Amino acid sequence: LTTIRDVANYAGVSIATVSRVINQNGYVNKETELKVARAMQELKYRPSSLARGLAGIKMNTIALILPDISNPFFPELARAVEDAAQQNEYNLFLCNTYDLVNKEKAYIEIMKRKHIDGIIIVSSNFDENELDQLHKSKIPIVLLDRSIQHPGCTVIRSKNYEGSKLAVEHLLEIGCRKIAHVSGPEELSISKERLAGYLETVKDMYWYQPTLIEHGNFIIEGGRKAVRTLIERHPDIDGIFVGNDLMALGALKELLQMKIKVPEEIAICGFDGIAMTEITEPELTTVAQPIYEMGVFATETLIKKIKGDIVNNCMFELDVKLIKRKSTMRNLLNKSS
Ligand code: RIB
Repeated sequence: LTTIRDVANYAGVSIATVSRVINQNGYVNKETELKVARAMQELKYRPSSLARGLAGIKMNTIALILPDISNPFFPELARAVEDAAQQNEYNLFLCNTYDLVNKEKAYIEIMKRKHIDGIIIVSSNFDENELDQLHKSKIPIVLLDRSIQHPGCTVIRSKNYEGSKLAVEHLLEIGCRKIAHVSGPEELSISKERLAGYLETVKDMYWYQPTLIEHGNFIIEGGRKAVRTLIERHPDIDGIFVGNDLMALGALKELLQMKIKVPEEIAICGFDGIAMTEITEPELTTVAQPIYEMGVFATETLIKKIKGDIVNNCMFELDVKLIKRKSTMRNLLNKSS
């Protein structure tokens, strides 16, 4: 059986150098790296999938790094990524980070070492400098959904600002005269953009006050808590734009418990367009992101980058669509009664 020592002797380098080449975790010049890769190939040394990558054989595997697989938005996105990957004969590694930057960084390092061909990352935890570093790393990367714009990275996301304007304008159209906003986590760029869309639409209204905004954390419980706080603060709220669908589900539940009727007393509009919004009671009006298209587009873009068919990076913002359902059907209800 060929050992790492045999490879080192054959290549005329130290065992530590072979290990560095295999693990890609230290400086080795190109010539030495090639010598080691050739030695491994000639001696048929195959310690793991790593060696295949080094020998220039494509792994045909990409990774998707997600912040929260318990939020149905992300499994819907992952399904699209997997479909598109398989269609292009790529396998998929799925990594869940619970939005923890250390987990994200650890996964990126692991994927690099495993010679994964490319990574799709959903994260807002990277600042300009870290995005610079990612750009300089050799591995092709596409940033999906949550990232800020960066000239060195391809970013694919949907139109958050426009989408939130659509939501609030719709609530105004159905007659709401005091609209609150349950925003996403304060530090996320997408939350800021959705909040900006809300503010732009309501800031000059006579009834607007900053206390009509409450931050949630993109999960059901956050939506429940935020809605209760808002109603305690402003019992006369008659419409709520909730920054994502999961929090909107929480809002519906909380209003039900408070015996407040939706949409008669308070109309609710969410954001995302996850499938669950079709089965709530009442069904939820939402600003739908093109979740499936986003996943497919990100995957196809990444594969083009892997193959070298795309060299320039840019930001793509996909259109969103307002889906009107019962949680805002106030006009129709009034007319038919
Ligand atoms: O529901 C999850 C939210 O986080 C979505 O709105 C999506 O855009 C993501 O970033």
